[in-house]
Amino acid sequence: MDFTASSAQLLNIKADSLILPTGPQLKDSAQALDKSLDGAISSLIKAGDFSGRKSETLVMHIPGANGKRIILLGTEGATTNQQLIKVIRAGASALKKTPSAKAVWVGEGLSEDAEWEAGIIARSIQTASYKYSSGKKAKAQKLKTLTYWTGKKGSLAAAKKGLGYGSAVGNGMNTARQLGNLPANICTPSYLATQAKALAKGQAKVTTSVLNEAEMKKLKMGSLLSVSAGSDEPGKLIVIKYQGAKASVKPVVLVGKAVTFDSGGISLKPGRGMDEMKYDMCGGASVIGVINALIENQLPINVVGIIPAVENMPNGQATKPGDVVTSMSGQTIEVLNTDAEGRLILCDALTYVGRFKPDTVIDIATLTGAVIGALGKETAGLLSNDDQLAEDLLSSGLRSGDRAWRLPMYEEYDSLLKSNFADIANIGGPQAGTITAACFLGRFTKKYKWAHLDVAGTAWVSGAQKGSTGRPVPILMDYLRSKAVKSKAG
Ligand code: BES
Ligand code: MN
Ligand code: ZN
Repeated sequence: MDFTASSAQLLNIKADSLILPTGPQLKDSAQALDKSLDGAISSLIKAGDFSGRKSETLVMHIPGANGKRIILLGTEGATTNQQLIKVIRAGASALKKTPSAKAVWVGEGLSEDAEWEAGIIARSIQTASYKYSSGKKAKAQKLKTLTYWTGKKGSLAAAKKGLGYGSAVGNGMNTARQLGNLPANICTPSYLATQAKALAKGQAKVTTSVLNEAEMKKLKMGSLLSVSAGSDEPGKLIVIKYQGAKASVKPVVLVGKAVTFDSGGISLKPGRGMDEMKYDMCGGASVIGVINALIENQLPINVVGIIPAVENMPNGQATKPGDVVTSMSGQTIEVLNTDAEGRLILCDALTYVGRFKPDTVIDIATLTGAVIGALGKETAGLLSNDDQLAEDLLSSGLRSGDRAWRLPMYEEYDSLLKSNFADIANIGGPQAGTITAACFLGRFTKKYKWAHLDVAGTAWVSGAQKGSTGRPVPILMDYLRSKAVKSKAG
C-alpha cells in the first residue's frame, strides 16, 4: 500500500474511488463536486437516500466515468475522537468492499487536525485489509494507493507524516493480530522467538536475543520457570532492542505476557471457551507489533521489548497449588493457584529489565478475567506507580481511540497478598482481582516508573467475530511517538 497526500485539483487526481466525508450540509469541496456532477450528491440527500448520519455510507457511480465512484461517508453527530475513528473505519471498510485500486480520501468534514486524521485513515485502511490466513502468502491486495487530499497546502506535510505513522501502526496491529489468531500448536514460545528474530533481519536498529531455560535458570528466574515446568514446550525469554536514538537515551521497556496457551495448569480451567486461551500471548504479540511499527516509522526513540513466553500446562512436572518458588528478585512466592501464571512470568521479566536502566517500564498482559467484569471489552485496565505516566497513557488512549481507565493500587489491596509460607501469595482472593494482580507486579517494580495495561478484555473479541484486535498497539505507539516528539523539543 502506498499513501500520499495531495492538494491538487480534486477531480484531476487519477483514482477510481473518492471517499467524501460529509453531513447533510455540503462543505466547500463537496459543493464543488456536487456542482460538477449536476447536483447528483445533493439530490441523493434531498431524496433521503443519504442522510449524512455518522458512519452511513453510500456508493454512487459517476455517470459516464468508467466505473469511477464516490463513496459518501456520513459525518453528522461525530465529534469525539472515538466517534471520528468509527466513521473513518466505516469509510475504510466501505472502500475495501469495492474493487478500487486507487482511492482519494477527501480531507474535509471530519477533523481539523490533518496529521491525526490522515494517521487514523492510513491505520484503518491497513487494518481493514487484514484477513487471517494460515498460509505464508496472503491474497494480493486490490487497493494499491490512497491519496489523502486536503485543500490546505499548509497541511500537506503534517498529513504525510500522519499517513506514514498510521500505516505503521496499522501494520503493527496486523502483525499482533496474526500472532494472536494463530493456534497454540503453531504459535509456541519457540515460534514467537523465531518471529522476533526475523524482525531484526536486515534492520540496523534492531537486535533480538533469546534466552533459553538453562540461561533463565542461571539468572534464577524460578518463578517464570515454575510456569513452563508443566509443559513440553520450552519457555523463552525474548529480548528485542530497537535503537532509534543515541545510545545514551534511556529506553522505554515494554514487557509483554506471552502465555501461548493457558490451560490453567493443575488449577485447570473449565472446558468452555478454553480455546480462547491461545490469545493469552497477546501482550507479547503487541510488543512485536510495536517493534514492527517502530521499524516502519523509524521513530527516534530507544525501546526494549521483553517477552516472557511460556505454555501453561499440567503435566507430571507441573507446579502444584501450595508450591513455593523463588523469583529472580529473591522474593519467595506461594503459588496458590497455577492459573494466576501471568504474574509469575512477568515478575521475573520485570526484575530482568533493571539491567536496561529503563526510563519507563510498561507491561502489557491479558492478566485477569476480572478486568472484563470491571471495564468490559471496550477499555483496558491501567495501573501505575507514577501519576504522570498514567496521565500520559490515558491521553494516548484517547488520542488513538485505544482507551484505558486507571484503577487504584492502594496498599490495602496489596495486603490481600499475604502468605503464611512465603513473601507473597500469587492470588489475593475473589475481590478486586485486577488490582491485586497489579499489586503483585508492583512488588517487583519499585525501582522505576512503571505502568501495567491489563488487556484481557480488549486484545481479542469472542463470538461470531472471534479474533485478535491488535490492541494495545495504538496506545503504545501514541505514547512512544509523543515521547519522541517531546525529547526532540527538549
Ligand atoms: N489468562 C488469564 C486471564 C484471562 C481470563 C484472560 C479470561 C481473558 C479471559 C489469567 O492467566 C488467569 O487465568 N487469571 C485468573 C486469575 C485468578 C486465578 C486469580 C482469572 O482471571 O481467573
Ligand atoms: Mn491463567
Ligand atoms: Zn493467563
